[in-house]
Amino acid sequence: MPLPRARPQGEAPAPVIELEQVGKSYRAGALDVAALRGVSTSIAAGEYVAVVGPSGSGKSTLMHIIGCLDVLTSGTYRLSGEDVSTMTEVELAEIRNRRIGFVFQQFNLLPSLSAWRNVELPLVYRGERRDVRRRRAVRALERVGLADRVEHRPGELSGGQQQRVAVARALVGDPSLILADEPTGNLDSTATRDVLDLFDELHDSGRTIVLITHEQEVAARARRVLHIRDGLIESDSTTGATSPPATGPQPTGTSAAGTAARR
Ligand SMILES: Nc1ncnc2c1ncn2[C@@H]1O[C@H](COP(=O)(O)OP(=O)(O)O)[C@@H](O)[C@H]1O
Ligand SMILES: [Mg+2]
Repeated sequence: MPLPRARPQGEAPAPVIELEQVGKSYRAGALDVAALRGVSTSIAAGEYVAVVGPSGSGKSTLMHIIGCLDVLTSGTYRLSGEDVSTMTEVELAEIRNRRIGFVFQQFNLLPSLSAWRNVELPLVYRGERRDVRRRRAVRALERVGLADRVEHRPGELSGGQQQRVAVARALVGDPSLILADEPTGNLDSTATRDVLDLFDELHDSGRTIVLITHEQEVAARARRVLHIRDGLIESDSTTGATSPPATGPQPTGTSAAGTAARR
């Protein structure tokens, strides 16, 4: 069944990620570890971007910053035009809950809760009523092909099924941005394909997707690939992939972009 378009009524602005000279250092004892060393890029609404690079290159750090899970130590991050450093912790929590869906390599499901109880969590934090939560969680599980696993606990599901539960949890709140950190890292090739097909559907329904991976085949599903190495973007390439998003890069000439932006 088709997914609804993200943000049909435009109640929240679509995510436009703008990173300017973003740096992030971690203090480890007496040492400063520079995980990001001046990352500048922007991601438009509706894009599907893969971030690839070797282990330790800063991919997860970048995702944590984009997802407002961590703060940068230098530079600027604007989300939908708003400087994230000016936001309060409450505003950031609200953004994480309403506008972003997260998928992690380790699934991060709560083992004691059934599939639908895991999926409903973002709605619990929003204070939705139980019947609404249940209905939306079951619908999200149907979308990922798990209508018959609603009452199963994570331990009773395969890895691929667990990750589909996690994808259902990421989309239950209808976020416009999906951030996935090595989502297929623990999956076999069949389950990998299933999860990537789901991301394709989410992208086709208008969501922005940023997917971190170190697997070339996974990155090939994205429309744009950012290569990161030693905390810096090494290259930024558009793949010859299918169906470019409607909101993709405008043709050259500022007037076309300006017209689109004012519409
Ligand atoms: N919480 C942390 N404390 C100290 N160093 C960290 C922390 N998180 C990441 N790092 C370091 O930052 C660098 C980038 O890490 P990370 O973003 O996790 O890379 P990747 O996801 O590409 O493997 C690594 O050198 C890592 O050791
Ligand atoms: Mg990582």
